[in-house]
Amino acid sequence: MSSNTLSHLKIIRPDDWHLHVRDGEGLKSVLAHTAGQCGRAIIMPNLTPPITSTQLAENYLQRIIHAIPENSPDFKPLMTLYLTDNTTPQEIEKAVKSGIIFAVKFYPAGATTNSDAGVSNIRKCYATLEKMQDLGLPLLVHGEATQYEIDIFDREKQFIDKTLKQLIIDFPELKIVFEHITTADAADFVSESPSNIAATITAHHLLMNRNDMLVGGIKPHHYCLPVLKRESHRLALVKAATSGNKKFFMGTDSAPHNRQKKETACGCAGMFTAFAAIELYAEAFDDAGALAQLEQFSSLNGPLFYGLKTNNDMISLKRKQWTVPDSYPFGDDIVIPLRAGQTINWKLDL
Ligand code: DOR
Ligand code: ZN
Repeated sequence: MSSNTLSHLKIIRPDDWHLHVRDGEGLKSVLAHTAGQCGRAIIMPNLTPPITSTQLAENYLQRIIHAIPENSPDFKPLMTLYLTDNTTPQEIEKAVKSGIIFAVKFYPAGATTNSDAGVSNIRKCYATLEKMQDLGLPLLVHGEATQYEIDIFDREKQFIDKTLKQLIIDFPELKIVFEHITTADAADFVSESPSNIAATITAHHLLMNRNDMLVGGIKPHHYCLPVLKRESHRLALVKAATSGNKKFFMGTDSAPHNRQKKETACGCAGMFTAFAAIELYAEAFDDAGALAQLEQFSSLNGPLFYGLKTNNDMISLKRKQWTVPDSYPFGDDIVIPLRAGQTINWKLDL
């Protein structure tokens, strides 16, 4: 039977290796979606102020644990530290010792939402990266060059050429996840790199290209960073995700902002996809005739890279078209989900 005639799919419970759950009022509303699907999630540290120390991560973890719904008691948040020019090797030791921190996030200053405190020049962090390499703590990279003159569609490729290649030469054993890759250049680069270099791919970059953001009027809910690219890049990402290559795994980059912050003259970057994360990936894999590869991408490759066990229970998906609500609650506000008012072809079978 070809995979696109399958009506049900049972896979090991997935994990989200790149997630924004925010803080305060909104945290509880968005976290419930991920906790209902995933065993674990890597929690991004780009709050205001950012999570720059083990102590701040401990405090944030307690707020997240408090927000986990009763019906998902086994969900585990995996915390990260936000790398700055001033992060010390001692802080890395503390982070590893704490047992709650699983990676450090490198935002080039100015690259995206709440990245002002990010790294001005990665050379300033070399002693800290040395310690991470020694202790096996992965570096998660927002891979975009930030100089204003660089065309926004070229920023990922420029980052590879100007920063990432050198980083890999200087730290040959550092575990690096090239986050939310969006180009054929990044997919090829990761494929050709040694096994300590991996990448996450979002569902939205597998499902959409830049026409979906710009043709027929600007769609602010399809604006994210790195920005959607042309179709040839999307096809390269689909090929990488469905290839069975262990270097590629699920990371939604679900990034909720309230409606007002998206539908405005200078809108925030980010798509909210956590409400249907695995369903959106299932649709992308189904479209590629590759449902048989979904489990490897969503549930096996991530834990393998991070040196963790796979989850020990299963989820079921059924082929069923359903209509996405126009909005979801986000604290006492609302967030507009991807595909609002439109359909998704797969549904988690609870
Ligand atoms: O689209 C994005 N939204 N990309 C990022 O890198 C950050 C994220 C956010 O925090 O809103
Ligand atoms: Zn992100």
